[in-house]
Amino acid sequence: MGRLKDKIALVTGGSQSLGGEMCKRFKEEGATVVSLDLITPTGFEADFFELNVTDAEKEFTRKGAQIRTNCIAPGYINTSILDTVPEKIIQSMKDSNPMKRLGEPIEIANAALFLASDEASYINGHVLAVNGGMRI
Ligand SMILES: NC(=O)c1ccc[n+]([C@@H]2O[C@H](COP(=O)([O-])OP(=O)(O)OC[C@H]3O[C@@H](n4cnc5c(N)ncnc54)[C@H](O)[C@@H]3O)[C@@H](O)[C@H]2O)c1
Repeated sequence: MGRLKDKIALVTGGSQSLGGEMCKRFKEEGATVVSLDLITPTGFEADFFELNVTDAEKEFTRKGAQIRTNCIAPGYINTSILDTVPEKIIQSMKDSNPMKRLGEPIEIANAALFLASDEASYINGHVLAVNGGMRI
């Protein structure tokens, strides 16, 4: 608790799935959370703004600001994005992964939490693969 105290988190696509889980997790750790999404969800606490993040990116980029920029490269994660994928394909995703399962949104949210926290204060420009050891 409190790893993001006094921080403001802007979560793009924060209404559901991976972004939604990040909003919940960041909130638990004390951040003020603002979700920017095309849709407004119900069910958890954050400020939501309906906004196309293509515009937001321009809006929030300030020259010279000391910000760290990191990236998460997820493997196959159990969200609604996989709803239309046939079960046979889902099974092959699981079978081909060393962990023999899909990832869960909380596992991406926890990685994002680490990168957003002061624990990652000197990590900048990094791509963190969170994929159970999957090889692409
Ligand atoms: N779930 C996976 O297995 C997986 C794996 C690798 C990468 N990804 C990527 O991670 C991202 C999130 O995945 P997810 O499973 O949570 O997807 P999702 O479709 O469940 O959620 C995406 C959210 O982003 C919002 N959104 C889309 N375009 C937007 C825009 N222009 N402006 C504002 N909001 C916008 C949507 O309304 C939605 O709420 C996607 O880009 C996806 O391609 C997902």
